[in-house]
Amino acid sequence: MGPSGCGKSTSLRIIGGLLEVTSGTVTVDGRQPKDAWDDLAYVFQSSRLVPWRNALKNVTLGMEMRSNDLKKSEMIERSQELLNMVGLQKDMKKFPSMLSGGERQRVAIARALAVDPKIILMDEPFAALDLNTRQRLRSELISIWNQTKKTIIFVTHDIDEALLLADRIVLLSDKPTRVIQTIEVKDERPRIIEQSDVLRSYRNNLTDLFKKLENTDQKVSN
Ligand SMILES: Nc1ncnc2c1ncn2[C@@H]1O[C@H](COP(=O)(O)OP(=O)(O)O)[C@@H](O)[C@H]1O
Ligand SMILES: [Mg+2]
Repeated sequence: MGPSGCGKSTSLRIIGGLLEVTSGTVTVDGRQPKDAWDDLAYVFQSSRLVPWRNALKNVTLGMEMRSNDLKKSEMIERSQELLNMVGLQKDMKKFPSMLSGGERQRVAIARALAVDPKIILMDEPFAALDLNTRQRLRSELISIWNQTKKTIIFVTHDIDEALLLADRIVLLSDKPTRVIQTIEVKDERPRIIEQSDVLRSYRNNLTDLFKKLENTDQKVSN
């Protein structure tokens, strides 16, 4: 988490090998990001699906683009399983234009899982969705994570989203960007913030810190 423009997306792009560092080092499981490319998959704020392929074929696309020994039938079978997991068993033949925003993000999540990455980088994946859909997808992400145990690095603006999902919240400052706080969240999932004193106090603390960061942001732009 961190204020707008502090470098969250940039950090993910560096981890994902899409951008080189100008100084310092970043390693992914001990390797240079560009060598760890096969271990990573991305989910962005917009689903970035290919409009001329249906949901199923969008999920196989991720696999087609990476080197692997899978037969076409195996790719289709795996894609079907993943679309089942994200609740789209009835929509596999639909094209992106026929899917809602939430359904398109589900396809993007299935596409990321399809390459069986070790780490999934998610850049505000639910930010463009309405509140209900966002809440549903958060619970689904928890259930997907329970089944797959993938490491997920998840960027969000939403304090509650971070509290509901994360094992560890890293709060970044405004520029020059520093880590200003790291919070380990130990509560079991699913979490209900209102029912946990610990989560409520983290929420208050983060809300205060965020307000301060955003105030300094405004002072700079004024
Ligand atoms: N390739 C780049 N070269 C120089 N500056 C960049 C580059 N990409 C992003 N920035 C700048 O870095 C800052 C962080 O951007 P970004 O990572 O997108 O922020 P966030 O995702 O936290 O909102 C912004 O000020 C942006 O303009
Ligand atoms: Mg960003």
